[in-house]
Order: sequence, then C-alpha cells, then structure tokens
Amino acid sequence: MSESGRDFHPDSSEIFGLLKRPTALSDLKYDLNAGVPDPNSLPSEALGRAFTRILESNPEESLTYDTIHFGFPALKAFIAHKYADSVAGINDDWVTMVSGSAHGLDNIASAFFDKGDGVIVGAPSYPGAIRTFTARGASVFAARQDASGITGDSLKLVLEKCQDENIRVKAIYLIPNYDNPSSVLMPVERRKEILQIAQDYKVLVIEDGAYAGVDLSGAPPDSLFEMAGGEGVIYCGTFSKTIATGLRSGYLMASPDITRSLRFMRLDNASSPLVQRAIYEFVSSDEYESHLSKILSIYRARRDAASESLIKYCGRFVEFDEPKGGFFHWLRLRDGISASSIVSKAREFGVAVSAGSGYYLEDDPESDSRVRLVFSTLSEDDLADAIELLGKSFESIRK
Ligand SMILES: Cc1ncc(COP(=O)(O)O)c(C=O)c1O
Repeated sequence: MSESGRDFHPDSSEIFGLLKRPTALSDLKYDLNAGVPDPNSLPSEALGRAFTRILESNPEESLTYDTIHFGFPALKAFIAHKYADSVAGINDDWVTMVSGSAHGLDNIASAFFDKGDGVIVGAPSYPGAIRTFTARGASVFAARQDASGITGDSLKLVLEKCQDENIRVKAIYLIPNYDNPSSVLMPVERRKEILQIAQDYKVLVIEDGAYAGVDLSGAPPDSLFEMAGGEGVIYCGTFSKTIATGLRSGYLMASPDITRSLRFMRLDNASSPLVQRAIYEFVSSDEYESHLSKILSIYRARRDAASESLIKYCGRFVEFDEPKGGFFHWLRLRDGISASSIVSKAREFGVAVSAGSGYYLEDDPESDSRVRLVFSTLSEDDLADAIELLGKSFESIRK
C-alpha cells in the first residue's frame, strides 16, 4: 500500500516506458538486424508431423510437468552421445533441457553468480548475456577480441586487475563458434590457451554454442567442452538457430555436480516436454539432416552474395573478415566513419543494421566503428538491393 492508501498500479503505458527493448525485428523494408533463421526455411511441416505423432502416442507425459528429469531422457542422451568420444562417462545426467539458451545463461547466472562476482565477456560480446549476468548481480568485465577471439593477454590482464581489486571472477563467457557479433571461429591454439588460463585462475568457462552447426566453410575445431574433457566448462546449446527460435528449447551440458546445482536453481517447473519430444523425433530422423544441408547451402549462398555486394557497394567504406559460419558480417568502418551515423542514415534508406555500440560494455573506444549485418534472413537479391542502399547511405554521409 502506498502512503495515500491506494495500491500502486502503474498503467500499461507507464510499464512500457520502463522497458528496455532488445534487438527486435525491424519495421524497415530490409532487415539486416535480427540474427534469426531464414523465415521461409522453418521446418514447419516436419515439426507438425512430429508434434502430431507425440500427442497421439504419449499425450500424458508430453503434456505434464517434467520436474523429475528436467529434460526428455532420450533427447538428453542423444545430445550427450555426440560427446562420448571426448568426454569420459558422459550420459544424460550431464544434460538439462532449458527454454532456449537465453534461459540457459540465466540458469547459470542464478546458480553461480552472487552480487559483485566478476564475469568476463569478449569485447565485443552478445548483449543478451551481458544483460543477463548484470541482472543477476554480476560485475561484467570485457577482454579484447582479435581475429581469433578473446586474446589470452587481455584475459590475463582483466583477471589480474580483478584479483588486485579483490573481485572474485567466477566465469569467462565466450562464443567460440561464429561469435555474435564478431563471427570469429576461434582456432584450436586459442581455445587451448583460454582453457589453460581458465584452469590457472580457477574460473569456470561458459561456452555459448548458439551458432554451432551453422558451419559454412568446413568443420570447426572441437568445442572447449570437448577439449577440456567436460571439466570446468558449461556448454550452452540451442535449437534456435538450426531449427527455430520459437521452439524455445536449448540445453546445458556440464559435469553432474554442476548440473545438480543448475537444476537446484530451476524454479520454473522445467521446460516443455512436448516440445522436447517433438525435437527428438525431428533430430533423430533423416529429415533433420536434409533440413540442415538445405539451410546451410542457403546461408552459404547468402553469405557469399552479401560479401560480394559489400565489396562492390561498400568496399571504400568498410572491411571485414569472411564469416566461416553463423549469420553475421562484422564490419570495420574505415576512416573514422561513425557507426551510429551510418545506422541512422541507412534507416532513412529503409535498411536496418545494428551499431557496434550494442555489443560492448560502455565507453569502448572500438564501439562506434563497428556494424553488424545479418545475412541469414534475406534472399540473395534482397541482400544485394539492401547492401546497395547501404552503400548509398555511406556515400551520403561521406559527401
Ligand atoms: C550468442 C547467443 N547466445 C544465445 C542466444 C539466445 O538464443 P535462444 O535463447 O533462442 O537459444 C542468442 C540469440 O541470438 C545468441 O546470439
């Protein structure tokens, strides 16, 4: 009750004003902003058949809480099985199903971070992770990325600084396969170096595999989770990028002691058993392999079309490394061009791209010289048109 004696009920417009809105689909003609799968390639028919089969064959278990297992055991075993060669003893006890990897990151933060604990992310990094860790009370620090991902030197520097200031760093968060936003595929040597540092400083590694599987230029190196034999690494996986974001299904994989702590902090009555059973039907069928090879060839062609147009229409203004997978081009703007001004100029031309500033902690000197461009959702022709307009936006701010 407030002092005036009435309950405080803010109206919905007040609440809306309080919300910070994360990356969303844009209303502009060309959306190169939202990092989601191609909307025309979502496997709706195959999933529809899978859902029908599940509901017909096992309505009871698929439509009731799963707080015993925290994940359909067959799906968890299917996930764990892929790691059997490199992680001794792995089985479904190592896996918990979550409602997307965003939920997984929150589950990790709720289980491991107390107020003031440190967590190190890349500069740049995925804003959703920064938001989640901060919301759970952690202090977030950034280690620089180069063309191979977070650098060992920068990581050690941040760890030392935290030690000097009596800040207990609990974890390093990274996206080794096709980082969001930098698209970097971390090479083996860097993976080893980061794991060694994590071990030396006794910090947990949170490996976000959101884009794992979206391999557009050959097979990636082993995950950090595999390289560490499953020790000291929590792997966070998702079906959002290879199947559909709307399933809201992902998983956390870690040694059973960690998994127990993660489950202990689950206050949500577990994730959807119906969705997990349908996913299991789909991923264990031949349809999944053909879905994967179809979407990968679409993304490969789009990546190439976007690269070609970027060179053709924007080559004087930007440079970039060819993405080996994932959904993004991460552009470095030449000659002091400001990311925020190109983002607002492109908006006038009907093109949505995201400014680098959203991917850094505050005040990073690099942040206004980077732009992220998504190639996964538009056709090759639309990408060419959109990037031509982006080129015109650059020309217009450079006049
Ligand atoms: C690196 C990274 N992690 C996690 C997520 C969250 O994905 P989801 O919650 O749909 O699994 C995203 C989404 O864009 C992402 O880019």
